[in-house]
Amino acid sequence: MCSPEHFAVEYAINPWMDVTAPVDAELAVKQWDRLRETLVGLGHEVHLLNPEPGLPDMVYAANGAFVVDGTVYGAQFKHEQRAAEAAAHRAFYESQGWRFIAPSETNEGEGDFAYLPEAHGGLILAGHGFRTELPAHAEAQEALARPVVSLRLVDPRFYHLDVALASIDDENIVYYPGAFSAASQRVLTQLFPDAVIADDEDALAFGLNLVSDGANVVLNSEATRLAGKLKAAGYTPVPVELAELKKGGGSVKCCIAELRH
Ligand code: ARG
Repeated sequence: MCSPEHFAVEYAINPWMDVTAPVDAELAVKQWDRLRETLVGLGHEVHLLNPEPGLPDMVYAANGAFVVDGTVYGAQFKHEQRAAEAAAHRAFYESQGWRFIAPSETNEGEGDFAYLPEAHGGLILAGHGFRTELPAHAEAQEALARPVVSLRLVDPRFYHLDVALASIDDENIVYYPGAFSAASQRVLTQLFPDAVIADDEDALAFGLNLVSDGANVVLNSEATRLAGKLKAAGYTPVPVELAELKKGGGSVKCCIAELRH
């Protein structure tokens, strides 16, 4: 995770960002801190990346890389405003001795990649259409040696995979079908017949931008309906308020890069 000390909305690269709306960076840090404490309280170890001035979106740490079983596939951001973030993530992984593979294709890390270790022997789901480019899916498959299933995102409000779909345990997902092309919806139905299905209200409340450890599902507090659905499916929803960071177009999952050893 990376503190939103320098968080601001200075440019608009997704439909949620409004450069004229005021942002309270202090409140953003408070809310982000609560998220960090929540994860620690659930027994998870949190490493911190140093925030850098001039990189207001750096708080969305999920975009900096994608890690599967100790191998890190680095990010290459689509927009130049965020390009310099990739080096900070790379330095973090290299200093910790992770095996790092530099990308040559545009991809925004866990923003567009999800991993299901127990689905079909270990499956990567990958989004394209707005940020990550299709050739990066093939590059990730070669880097990480897991099958990559390409899914096409069609609604600009859901510009990253992680605002439309999330893993809720090692083999199952929750997703909002409307974010995907009809063909990709068909693929998801075939691969995940037991998925939890979210509706537009859940998705617009950023409910899908969640992090789950298989039992506890940490999600945006506005997504009350989705929390109910997850509870009915046997999970424990853990709501967290992240209203300030929503102004940049992200929530829980965007703030967390998962380190999979
Ligand atoms: N303002 C950031 C951007 O548009 C938000 C990134 C959100 N991160 C995520 N993993 N969806 O790039």
